[in-house]
Amino acid sequence: MSAAVGIALTGSGAASPARVVTNDELSLWLDTSDDWIRSRTGIAARRIATADDSLESLSSQAAQQALEQAGWRPDQVDLILLATSSPEDLFGSAPAVQAALGASNAVAFDLTAACSGFLFALITAAQYIRSGACRRVLVVGADLLSRWVDWQDRRTCVLFGDGAAAVAMEAAPEGWDGLLTMVMRTDGRRRGCLTMAHQVTPQVLHDHLHAGFGGFRPIAMDGQEVYKFAVQQVPLVLTQVLEQAGLTAEQLDWLLLHQANERILASVAQRLGVPAAKVLSNLGSYGNTSAATIPLMLHEAVEAQRIRPGHLIASSGFGAGLSWGAALLRWGRPDAT
Ligand code: UT7
Repeated sequence: MSAAVGIALTGSGAASPARVVTNDELSLWLDTSDDWIRSRTGIAARRIATADDSLESLSSQAAQQALEQAGWRPDQVDLILLATSSPEDLFGSAPAVQAALGASNAVAFDLTAACSGFLFALITAAQYIRSGACRRVLVVGADLLSRWVDWQDRRTCVLFGDGAAAVAMEAAPEGWDGLLTMVMRTDGRRRGCLTMAHQVTPQVLHDHLHAGFGGFRPIAMDGQEVYKFAVQQVPLVLTQVLEQAGLTAEQLDWLLLHQANERILASVAQRLGVPAAKVLSNLGSYGNTSAATIPLMLHEAVEAQRIRPGHLIASSGFGAGLSWGAALLRWGRPDAT
């Protein structure tokens, strides 16, 4: 793909609530078991936000860390994109991150695409850099879905956890590109498979004016439909980004998928012919943190020096919408390879 300006992924950060909730703890009030959850999903524990935690504060901590790793000053940030489906203000939580960082020259706004949100935000951010409109962008993926699940619905509540993570992305010198190829897709006809739907409570203002008061229903999911969708569509978009780049799966250093289910990770890897050792997973500790899964896993792998500068990573996000996408990434900046 010809690029106006190259992209470099130069920093990462993450922040999670301190409270760990194990599968056994869930079975204190739910008809579930550690064995069922582990064998069907690979999840052993998740972090759950307490009333003292906030999405805006976790997002700010993650973004601050990414900014420091990239070596930027806050006033050098041009754009902060916050991918979330659980903002603390429906008008947008990104400006709170801007204020916490003191990124006085940035514009900050939210992007909503559920579990595909981080990948869509990363791709969106890249367009601002390629066009020359921005030089330095912080892309944050954060969700506290524990506040939006029905804690009596064992089909959904055991799956999700809370977290925030961020990546710093900047214009790269000529000849380097950290976002080689990408694909984004949605199928709105299947939006009913996974919802956090609007709910209106009628309110009578006077005899001739019956208005509504807005709210949301808890998360509802047809798990089997979403599972089938993921194992069918994710390998297709990953193959597409590899073909666009003229590369093969053998050339990948890592496969970095949205962390929804260990069985989905294994199935996609097998379809692509990627060995298990190259499949990144932290599902066991965090569960599905929605927009945060990909940058959270990325940050852990960078910190552990598993992902190193120059490594080639195929990433795919998928979820409600239905939405899905893939991108081929190269980590780091050219002088660090
Ligand atoms: O992030 C967005 C993307 N989301 C996903 O990718 C999720 C995709 N879907 C999945 O990962 C899987 O479909 C689930 C993990 C959600 C469910 O696994 P499954 O193997 O599809 O189970 P199932 O829904 O077919 O349920 C099997 C049985 C049912 O009992 P019966 O009807 O066979 O008697 C459920 O009621 O397991 C029961 N069940 C549970 N049992 C114990 C469902 N949830 C639980 C639970 N504990 N937590």
